[in-house]
Amino acid sequence: MQWHPNPIERRAHASLKWSTFPENELPLWVADMDCAPPPCVNNTLNQALEHGIFGYGTEPKGFRDAWVDHLRNTHDWTIEPDWIVPVAGVVPGMRFALMAHPSIQRILTPTPAYPYFKTVPSIERRTEYPIALRRVGNILEPALTEIAQTLETLTEPAAILWCNPHNPGGTVYSKQFIETLVATASKHDTLIISDEIWADLILNDKRHIPLGLIAPTDQPTITLMAATKTFNVAGFGCAVAIIPEPKTRARYLETQIAMPHVAPLAYAVTESCLRNGWQWHSELITALQTNRDTVIEWAKSHPELEVTTGDATFLAWIESHTQTNLSERFAAKGIRLSPGTPFGSETAVRLNFGTNPATLTEALRRMDAALL
Ligand SMILES: Cc1ncc(COP(=O)(O)O)c(C=O)c1O
Repeated sequence: MQWHPNPIERRAHASLKWSTFPENELPLWVADMDCAPPPCVNNTLNQALEHGIFGYGTEPKGFRDAWVDHLRNTHDWTIEPDWIVPVAGVVPGMRFALMAHPSIQRILTPTPAYPYFKTVPSIERRTEYPIALRRVGNILEPALTEIAQTLETLTEPAAILWCNPHNPGGTVYSKQFIETLVATASKHDTLIISDEIWADLILNDKRHIPLGLIAPTDQPTITLMAATKTFNVAGFGCAVAIIPEPKTRARYLETQIAMPHVAPLAYAVTESCLRNGWQWHSELITALQTNRDTVIEWAKSHPELEVTTGDATFLAWIESHTQTNLSERFAAKGIRLSPGTPFGSETAVRLNFGTNPATLTEALRRMDAALL
């Protein structure tokens, strides 16, 4: 695995991250990384080009097995292949989960949250109940009692839209946490939708506990996973909704009619990464740990900020208790981070450190200048 030495070149390829802002600005915002994916991706694409026919596709025979094997080998979670519903992305998958449950009007979301945790309930015309995450050491976590108390007060059906590992805070929730979450949801007949797209980007020795490892198979749960973040192939929209409980799965499958399907190349790329991308992945984790440590070191010279890197992801959540305009101040010095407001915090920004160390160092230097 190698960082791209000059990621500004990504502009020539209509990159959302690099093409949105002027050339003299460093964009460390949207969550993709400035590196090529594992070599197996190019091999897969070259084979497709050699074949050269790009008609309608169908799910490749090995796709489900690749997920079943990965979940068993990496996360100790044994699933049945038919629990899987392929979808063209985790965000659409989240929306399908709400579309499948029109009677669920109340949605609990951890806050701060990846912005679609707020947009999806809003466009589906549901009411959001933010569950505040507080900083404890280097992680953000909620008071579990707040989830239980919120559910106690609700008389209408509710869902918990959870994110584990958490974006933007990087929290990897413990087994005990997930057990309590599952028991609380069960007590209140509440559906849990768990976005686990970051499950394979853990940067310390914590272990990801999939929701479905803990929840009984007859409890309504929807777990959303993808290989796109892990292997830096976000442009190939492909995810899986894993739904053990048959009625919940049947409702979900109904939402798939007349929806865009996973593209053949996206299926093939995902399968090849799950099978052959792990050597690259272990090098990536080392490179991300180095960058994370650079951010932690930088944070020491800014005691006026709370910088949370958590256990996982290539994101740092930077909160100021004194300023509401961090994002604008950084932008004025040519550094574009994700503004906190869509995440539910006006005083924070999110930094994406999935870039080469030189670009990261220059970004932190500009941020220093903005904070003077
Ligand atoms: C928590 C979370 N869910 C979903 C996504 C996007 O998923 P997809 O591109 O598969 O729609 C992201 C991207 O950053 C994310 O952080």
